[in-house]
Amino acid sequence: MIIGGGVIGLAIARELRLKGVRKIAVLERGAVGREASHAAAGMLAPNAETEKLDEFYRLCDESNRLYPDFAAALFAETGVDVGFDRQGTLYLALTENDSEEIGRRFAWQRGAGLRVERLSAAETRRVEPFLSPDVRESLFFPEDRQVETRRLVAALERFAALNNIEIRERTSVARIVFENGRAAGAETEDGEKFFAGTVVLAAGAWSSQIAAGALALPAVKPVRGQIVAFQTAKRLFQRVIYSPRGYLVPRADGRVLAGATSEDAGFDKSVTTAAAARLRANALEIAPSLVNLEIVEQWAGLRPLAADRRPVLGSFPQVENFLLATAHFRNGILLAPVTARIIAEKIAENRDSDYLRAFGPERFRANDSRSLNISA
Ligand code: FAD
Ligand code: GLY
Repeated sequence: MIIGGGVIGLAIARELRLKGVRKIAVLERGAVGREASHAAAGMLAPNAETEKLDEFYRLCDESNRLYPDFAAALFAETGVDVGFDRQGTLYLALTENDSEEIGRRFAWQRGAGLRVERLSAAETRRVEPFLSPDVRESLFFPEDRQVETRRLVAALERFAALNNIEIRERTSVARIVFENGRAAGAETEDGEKFFAGTVVLAAGAWSSQIAAGALALPAVKPVRGQIVAFQTAKRLFQRVIYSPRGYLVPRADGRVLAGATSEDAGFDKSVTTAAAARLRANALEIAPSLVNLEIVEQWAGLRPLAADRRPVLGSFPQVENFLLATAHFRNGILLAPVTARIIAEKIAENRDSDYLRAFGPERFRANDSRSLNISA
């Protein structure tokens, strides 16, 4: 049983089915895929976003490498094209400070063997002619990609429908049920009980609100992200484009997403005019050619954040058959394939990935993570 029908829960359900697990249920409080996974920009950018080569980078990079097969398999399985796009990512310098930042990043990333290229202003505008004339230079990450998030969720939902995975929507889990040191199921807010051999908690930003007996679940906090979208008649940009102040994600249908805020607003998913103005200003700094376009859509989602900003993947030694797959913060779309593989290998084959040790919930035991002051 999986609690939470976002990209993480649905990807785990699919992988379990592919590994031959017969009875799989997803309990979802609302409708599947309508929370953070619906709001995400869909960037698969381990290289543009990394600050160091650590275990987290390796996890992100591995998931990025799984994506071509993941996207192709989903298409074969469901007929849904998830818009997997390999055009790469540009990271722009628009000010002197930005140039210093880019120089620093280029030096360490090249030194570490990552694939990154440094483009002059002219080279940058040659590949993306609609960028600002103020662009001083850029970094190009050829191995960073993007995916159309909403289609990804639709594909996973379709896979579930075609493969007899039970999806129970409008089913809000209040607590995990444990019996004799093992997870035995879950009980809803309405007191309805569901029984299962294994329970996976994948409830995104709400994960630590679910009671888990005597276990202290790592605190997971919501971090609101707002995005605005412009519509262009034809695709103006080929690549995902970052500046240090925001990003543009061009979709094949001419939409251009401009993101994103990072706000401590509790579980409030409202959108604000102040955020729209800031996102628009950041977008125009990157591409003044967008100036006459109206914002056609604005939305918000809640990123799930743990105290150390890393995902929580794994189990507690004191209970059996209970796993967490949560706190993917800014990278849950990128990390869906690798998370699904790690969790499904553990459940179906009892295989322990090294990542379960690195990202397991036990790492918070030394301090009471519930009382940590998490900042976005
Ligand atoms: P969710 O999608 O939030 O799913 C959790 C599900 O659990 C929800 O459907 C919820 O209803 C359900 N649930 C909650 N409580 C209960 C309960 N008690 N009982 C039953 N069900 C419950 N990531 C990237 O990789 N690339 C990006 O470009 C990117 N851009 C982003 C931009 C924005 C603006 C935001 C907000 C996020 C972005 N992310 C991005 C992050 C990504 O969206 C998340 O990390 C990812 O969606 C988390 O997936 P999830 O399934 O854990 O959470
Ligand atoms: N990864 C992009 C975001 O979270 O806004």
